[in-house]
Amino acid sequence: LPIRAGSYTDELVKTAKTVASPGRGILAIDESNATCGKRLASIGLDNTETNRQAYRQLLLTTPGLGEYISGAILFEETLYQSTTDGKKFVDCLRDQNIVPGIKVDKGLVPLPGSNNESWCQGLDGLASRSAEYYKQGARFAKWRTVVSIPCGPSALAVKEAAWGLARYAAISQDNGLVPIVEPEILLDGDHPIERTLEVAEKVWSEVFFYLAENNVVFEGILLKPSMVTPGAEHKEKASPETVAKYTLTMLKRRVPPAVPGIMFLSGGQSEMEATLNLNAMNQSPNPWHVSFSYARALQNSVLKTWQGHPENIVAGQKALLERAKANSSAQLGKYSG
Ligand code: 13P
Repeated sequence: LPIRAGSYTDELVKTAKTVASPGRGILAIDESNATCGKRLASIGLDNTETNRQAYRQLLLTTPGLGEYISGAILFEETLYQSTTDGKKFVDCLRDQNIVPGIKVDKGLVPLPGSNNESWCQGLDGLASRSAEYYKQGARFAKWRTVVSIPCGPSALAVKEAAWGLARYAAISQDNGLVPIVEPEILLDGDHPIERTLEVAEKVWSEVFFYLAENNVVFEGILLKPSMVTPGAEHKEKASPETVAKYTLTMLKRRVPPAVPGIMFLSGGQSEMEATLNLNAMNQSPNPWHVSFSYARALQNSVLKTWQGHPENIVAGQKALLERAKANSSAQLGKYSG
């Protein structure tokens, strides 16, 4: 059936389907230079361009990665970098049938008039930046904004998050990039899982209201939600089955089946928790491709293994492949430990 006729519509639908292909998910390595610096500091390395390039080269040149990974989200610096042998990172990805993606938001700043909440910058100049990223080989984009449960969330913060995501999504599609829509509901707080469900339902209903108002093609977007869990400081932890039940309930109530892929963030869960929760979500049929777009839950072991030493590169790549393979199995609902 016809959907909105735009110059990139067919390509957007195709890109989204490729990223949401069975047994694959997204490797998120789009840490800003400041965040990447924190990761490097955890293994005693300085935050230099050389060290960031070396680390990203280890990740992006992992042999066999494309079997489990369908897309990689890059920070702007990485999109324009090459291997030390001079091969563009974008080409390393393409050779493995991995779609290059780009983080396009400009980060969070305080939202005046709210309850100490944040909003996400980056709409000014986004159309021209997106066109440049497309030329450089990017085919999808990411915009991460956050919602805090302990801070409210206020109606103002939720509306601002949803509106910003919808404007970004429309601009991305207009420039050939599939937008990943990510309103991260932070884990912080001691609230029970029911409260997370309530907030997630509110956030996603507003996001879809404004996506529709901005004529965004739902077949050409991907979502990056937080899983519905109790707050990190809540007295009880939820089992993977409970997380799956609440998260799928939320999705079924709020997300149209026209959306091809749901690519969860890990949000501070351990590598194993993130895999087990995803596996639990894929035990029953659902209308989407339910998969992963993990940063920390794919990289923690890699960093620890690598330690910045060239002789550990192969072992680091092995650690990445192990997590990627586990999450690939979890995407198919077949992870068994
Ligand atoms: P985490 O999986 O570490 O929460 O990262 C989320 C993210 O938005 C990275 O692109």
